[in-house]
Formats: sequence, C-alpha cells, structure tokens
Amino acid sequence: MKRYSEISLEKFNRLKDRNDYLILAFESSCDETAVAITKGREVLSSIIFSQIDIHKAYGGVVPEIASRNHVEVIDKVLDEALEKANLKLKDIDLIAVTKGAGLLGALLVGVCYAKALAYALQIPFIGINHIKGHLAANFIKYPELEYPFICLIASGGHTEILKVDSFQKAKILGETVDDAVGEAFDKVARVLGLPYPGGPEIDKLAKEGKPTYKLTRPFKGKDHFNFSYSGLKTGVINIVHNANQKGEEINKADLARSFQDEAIGFLVDNTIRAALENNIKKIVIAGGVAANSYLRSEFERVCKKEKIDLYIPPIALCTDNAAMIGVAAFEEIKEGANLDDLSLDADPSL
Ligand code: KG4
Ligand code: ZN
Repeated sequence: MKRYSEISLEKFNRLKDRNDYLILAFESSCDETAVAITKGREVLSSIIFSQIDIHKAYGGVVPEIASRNHVEVIDKVLDEALEKANLKLKDIDLIAVTKGAGLLGALLVGVCYAKALAYALQIPFIGINHIKGHLAANFIKYPELEYPFICLIASGGHTEILKVDSFQKAKILGETVDDAVGEAFDKVARVLGLPYPGGPEIDKLAKEGKPTYKLTRPFKGKDHFNFSYSGLKTGVINIVHNANQKGEEINKADLARSFQDEAIGFLVDNTIRAALENNIKKIVIAGGVAANSYLRSEFERVCKKEKIDLYIPPIALCTDNAAMIGVAAFEEIKEGANLDDLSLDADPSL
C-alpha cells in the first residue's frame, strides 16, 4: 500500500504546472478563523469568522481564547466555504494553511486541521507565510499585476518596504526598528480609551479632528527607508499624561488626527522615495493598515503626482482572510515551491 507522502507527491506533480486546480485555504494566525477556496488568482469562496467581539471585552486578543474559538468554529467555517463555492471536499486538489507568523496556539489549530484533512483526503498541502499572503491579496484584485514592484507591508506585526522581483525573491529596503505601524495604532487607541481593534477607531475619529498636536517623526532627512514608531507612540502617551496631570482636557479627535497624519505620512514618504530611487514606478500595498482611509487617499494623491502606478487591495482583502493564503500557495507553487509533509510545524515568529 502506498503511503500518504508518495500519494500526495504524485498528485502534486500532476497539478503543479496547471493553473486550474482547486485550493482549500485556512488562516487562523490571530483572531480571524478564515477558510477560502481559490483557483489560480480567482476566489471561489471566502468565509471569515471574526472574534473581534469576543476579545473586545479584554481590550486586545487573548491568545488562549483565540485558540479555543478557532477550534469551535473551524468546522462550520469550512462547511460554509464549501457550500458557497458549491463544492465538496472530494473536489479539492490541495490544501494551504498559514504556518506563521502569529499566535502559536491559534496557528496550531489551522495547521493541525489542515494536516489532518490533507491526510484524510490523501491530497498535498503547503504551509504559507502570513505576510506573503497579505502580498498575494493584490493578485486577487489585480490578476494582471507583474513584477518587479515596490511593496509596502503595513500590518499589526510588520512594517517593511520590499523590492519584489518575484513571489519568491524580495529584498528588504527598509523596516521598522521597533514597533510595527499597526501596533502603534492599536497602542495609541488604547491610550485614547478607544475600543479594540484600535486602527479602525483612530481612522474614524481622525476624520473629525485637525492636526493640532505636534509630534516629531524620527529619521527625518535620513537617506534610508527604515521606520520607527515607538517615539510617535510615546509622544501621544506624553501628551495624554501631561494633560491628565494638569487636569486639562485633550481633544481626542485632534490627537488621533495628529498621530495618524505622522504615522501614515511616514509610510507614504519612505515608500515613494524607495520607488523613485530604485526607478520602479509601481507600488503595491499590503497588510491590515492598508485599510486606513487616509493611507489610501494619500498614496493615491502622491502616486498620481509622481506618475507611479498604485495597487491597493479592497478593504476586505487588507485584513486577515484565507483567500490571500490560497492565492499565495498558487504563486509559490508556480515558482517551484514544494509541498510540505506531515511534520510541518507552526512557526509563530516566521
Ligand atoms: O495585517 P493585519 O491583519 O495584522 C497582521 O497580520 O499583523 O492587520 C491588523 C492591524 C491592526 O494593528 C489594526 O489596528 C490595523 O491593522 N488596522 C488599521 C485599520 N484597519 C486595521 N489601522 C489603521 N486604520 C485602519 N482602518
Ligand atoms: Zn495579517
């Protein structure tokens, strides 16, 4: 009798050069349980169960609660994804799953589920880097997108500018030396007493404010593309503490707007400079912070002025979903990535 490893390899070898095979993808790295079915760069179904309401009471994601909830809902989310695509498990050709980075317990739910299902169905599976998933979200909206391009990854855990020559070949041009931009949004929101998740709340509140507070952006005038967000965050904390000590009111909308202008301005300035200096007039944005309305309008404005082509996924594809994981798997396989075996482990710090 043939073993799983032989059967899955045979099946993988038969499908890897095609672009019409069906991928069932799982994403459970943080507080979204997501399942999608994709074919090439096309999404047949994408279901997301968000745990935001569960974690709101704690002001942030509680890892243990996240893992337990993934276990509870993953079956139902899978059923819904199959039903929406009008497919059965037997139709699926390959399984993809986020292997990291993220919360270990949360990742393990997806990885173990994907491995068990791949074994039961005797089909190949592949583990995907979550950040590459965010990048792949762009291929869903723009199937015609071609390399090379400059990519800004702006998420809760990453802030990076990459020169991307292919899905498997990217060079880091700049990155944060401390907090990620999304992390800074979340921490500042907490200081302002806004509910979790903070990014969208600051986005909303900033619309009612003016940039009246002075915050200093680090690295101004420097010739590298790195970021630093802990100083901006501390600047906000100091303003709030000083006002509290003096018994003064702060204007939360103005402070949110002042922070957002600097935080997003930093992303825009560095990314545009990276594109111009590398002579690549094509910018691709990825990650949860790409949902920010000011980021979207600022990039549009500046790219138009500099005659740079801009690619930003729709808001629903900016935050965590499994469709981007399915498409990332397709892109990796197209460029020669191999399947994984049942020893694949979750890697929280990938
Ligand atoms: O990419 P993502 O799902 O997280 C990681 O994979 O790390 O993005 C989540 C981050 C959070 O920090 C959240 O506050 C931020 O993206 N975010 C936003 C907005 N929507 C989500 N930040 C600013 N404005 C938004 N509209
Ligand atoms: Zn993410």
